[in-house]
Amino acid sequence: MSRTLHLNAFLMGVGHHEAAWRHPRTDPRRVGDVRHFQELARIAERGTLDSVFLADGLAVGPAVRHNIQAVFEPLTLLASLAAVTEHIGLIATVSTTYNEPFNVARKFASLDHLSGGRAGWNIVTSAQSREAWNFNLDDHPAHADRYRRAAEFVDVAIKLWDSWEDDALVLDTAAGVFADTDRVHEVGHTGEHFTVRGPLNTPRPPQGRPLLVQAGSSADGIAFAARYAEAVFTAQQTLADGQAFYAELKRQTIAAGRDPDLVKVLPGIAPVIGGTEVEARALADELEALIVPEHALSQLSGMTGVDLTGLPLDGPVPELPDLSSVQSHQSRYQLVVELARREKLTIRQLIGRLGGGRGHRVVAGTPEQIADQIELWFSQGAADGFNVMPPLLPYGLEAFVDHVVPLLRERGLFRHEYTGRTLREHYGLPRPASAYAARELVTA
Ligand SMILES: Cc1cc2nc3c(=O)[nH]c(=O)nc-3n(C[C@H](O)[C@H](O)[C@H](O)COP(=O)(O)O)c2cc1C
Repeated sequence: MSRTLHLNAFLMGVGHHEAAWRHPRTDPRRVGDVRHFQELARIAERGTLDSVFLADGLAVGPAVRHNIQAVFEPLTLLASLAAVTEHIGLIATVSTTYNEPFNVARKFASLDHLSGGRAGWNIVTSAQSREAWNFNLDDHPAHADRYRRAAEFVDVAIKLWDSWEDDALVLDTAAGVFADTDRVHEVGHTGEHFTVRGPLNTPRPPQGRPLLVQAGSSADGIAFAARYAEAVFTAQQTLADGQAFYAELKRQTIAAGRDPDLVKVLPGIAPVIGGTEVEARALADELEALIVPEHALSQLSGMTGVDLTGLPLDGPVPELPDLSSVQSHQSRYQLVVELARREKLTIRQLIGRLGGGRGHRVVAGTPEQIADQIELWFSQGAADGFNVMPPLLPYGLEAFVDHVVPLLRERGLFRHEYTGRTLREHYGLPRPASAYAARELVTA
């Protein structure tokens, strides 16, 4: 069977370009309006996209002076999107560093029930010190420790989703039996970070387990994804980088005893779409001109851990610390350093490049040119799909759905209509059986 592209719409405020809220094509007041996000979800569903995704951070810093930082809690917002859509998958970020497995398992099980099997969890370990300050800590735990906690966290969540077997609910009003307690299991987990008895207090989700997504591309991140992820979001600037990441993740997935086809790699793409290439570039330039330099400079300083604020914008990017000293976003840091070196960028040029997608690939061009790039990465072993990051919302998502999606369909790369009901079916992934039911079958 020929491969099908998987397309996720990454919804963020009024657009992924950091100056989107200042552009005349957007209305920044809409970031506080649930109808804005409901409209975006309906646009994505009209384009038969696989899913929409909401990122999340657990702190607001001084950067809020110049950019949108305050957002709705993503699972709360997704519940309102579930109510106005039928097919589109609903993926939210939830941190394993600043949450407890029982609560998180319950929230995603609830969203999966509310949405008829469309929930997905983007598993992140949170990397900002500012977030740690909101959770009784002076600084965030070390990179490797965060991932070790994340692994146990997901193990516990999986046990909790499996703690109700599919046919545990009896609902026998005559006999007065609500559930078959032989099919509702205590998980009895005791580990380094968590002690959880269970069972979960929400019956087994329609998908069995929500779709598991991950977004860290460091060595720790890839090892974690190879064990747990079913979809992987990543930032890659060049085809060669994309191919190398793709090959390494699939290699490690096989080494972890899993089928590499059941782990979908979705690099980010920020499409700046115009009727002509000139028009698209003009829009990209317009947005870049709206960047607030001092804001972008403080963002870059935060990302690199080097105070760049006093340096000349048109001067070279200075020597940056070795990756081994980075405990926050390791892969993103590496990407930024390599981009600046490879293209010998000045600080201003680097800010311009990061403004469009925070390190994700920005492609400015006609719908044909965007479709060509998508087809190239898909056919050359760098992607199973894409995390679509429109620079302006809703304008950029509408343009993608109305002008790029039809081309991808014409080329036989993308679905014309939804054939599945659940998020897993959209991604071509099986519904996992409860480990307890499987165990019973073995012992029977
Ligand atoms: C598409 C995408 C979405 C992400 N969303 C979030 C998010 O919502 N919250 C968050 O704290 N980190 C988010 N991240 C950052 C990752 O979780 C991770 O910290 C980062 O990729 C660096 O991971 P690494 O240190 O393993 O390389 C995202 C990354 C990508 C590529």
